[in-house]
Amino acid sequence: MGFLKLIIVPSVVAIAAYFAYVTVNPPTTPDFPRNGWFGAGPKRADDTKISPFKVAVPEATIEDLKKRLANTRISHDVLEDANSFEYGFNVNYLKKVIEHWQTKFDWRKQEAILNTWPQFTTEIEGVKVHYYHAKPDAKKYKKIVPLLLVHGWPGNVFEFYKFLPMLLDPVAHKVATRNDIAFEVIAPSIPGYGFSDAAKKTGFSQLAAARMFKKLMERVGHKKFYCQGGDWGSIVTSQLARMYPENVYGLHLNMASASPTSLKGLFYAVVGSIIPQHLFKHEHHHDYSSVHLFTKVLLPESGYMHIQATKPDTVGTGLNDSPAGLAAYILEKFSTWTNGEYRKLPDGGLTKKFTLDELLTVVTIYWTQGNIVASQRFYKECFSDHYNFPMTNTYISVPTAHAQFPNELFDKQPAEILATGMNLTSQVVMPDGGHFAAFEQPTYLATHLFSFVSGLEKK
Ligand SMILES: *[C@@H]1O[C@H](CO)[C@@H](O)[C@H](O)[C@H]1NC(C)=O
Repeated sequence: MGFLKLIIVPSVVAIAAYFAYVTVNPPTTPDFPRNGWFGAGPKRADDTKISPFKVAVPEATIEDLKKRLANTRISHDVLEDANSFEYGFNVNYLKKVIEHWQTKFDWRKQEAILNTWPQFTTEIEGVKVHYYHAKPDAKKYKKIVPLLLVHGWPGNVFEFYKFLPMLLDPVAHKVATRNDIAFEVIAPSIPGYGFSDAAKKTGFSQLAAARMFKKLMERVGHKKFYCQGGDWGSIVTSQLARMYPENVYGLHLNMASASPTSLKGLFYAVVGSIIPQHLFKHEHHHDYSSVHLFTKVLLPESGYMHIQATKPDTVGTGLNDSPAGLAAYILEKFSTWTNGEYRKLPDGGLTKKFTLDELLTVVTIYWTQGNIVASQRFYKECFSDHYNFPMTNTYISVPTAHAQFPNELFDKQPAEILATGMNLTSQVVMPDGGHFAAFEQPTYLATHLFSFVSGLEKK
């Protein structure tokens, strides 16, 4: 006990001193780099031309994929008493997915969906960036406002194929009742994802992505805009709002967290874990526990993150060489992150909320573009960029709204905690949905986004 006291007492004093210090001196925005270069070779000026783009995967790539699927080598069986997703992707179900991919999946049909909206590419910091740029019918809506919409991992812009039309014509899709506002949507592929090129140099972090997307918005004519994001999209748009608050009207997140950088934040996280029902207003947070979040959610579900944040190229090499491996790795996330309970099901509940064609489109984009490694490196750069965490600790001053989906494993924080790190104007706990909100519950997400933005536009 004497030994424990020797550790605990000084630790408590040090933590208290730290929080007393940051309360008096709140973290200030670090002086982050205003430019970067991730292209091949030495830095030069960007070619700022904007070129139209269409997805057009060569037939040979599709034939090669089918051949590899036919040659899939699987040597393990499910454990007799674990016919579920608890050991990872259930191999019995994986065989069905592979068969569907090989015999029923129609890439050209999915490609036509991807080509529904206008797409472009332009060079930013040496990287060819792909983006959707879709505009509503200007005669139908009183005001058109620009929105930067950012996806995450292991997704890509295909996740928005049901959400995007709602943003362009909210009345027709019944996500708004009045024809006051529609969005002009700019939805980029994060470099290294989807149809954007990958960075050729180290350092392409969330901060770099935020800076590049702000440049993209300016290039397409929008000095100031709204932002929406989940997963990496939420981190990138949050960093953008911290770095360039003067460029952001408002921020809408479907994954939000705040690090307890103030005494108040720490108090909520610690005391709120003991008596949540007395501290947090919404009953969804009455079982809040930061210990439970760490031991029951973060530890069992974040192994992928540790690998990708340290040696992304090693695991990625195997995934890029085997479509079956790639599908198992990516779709396991679409199971568990949609609902943690789906781990217990033999098919991971994958088709409860999505069709196999939808899911395999996400995977086929990674496969045909060959960029799973590039997408995974984004985790390593997150932890390598020494501006990232000081920036995360600074307050988001622009009005921010949070759509909290009940089955989103990484998004459990009560409004009271979030409000210590951001200008939280609204938090709504949705009736249903998980991590891939735009893909799974586009109506809930779009309705909340429109109500948030309408509220701000009225002021
Ligand atoms: C929050 O946003 C509103 C609206 O822009 C603004 O008036 C207010 O000052 C902001 N609050 C903080 C604490 O930044």
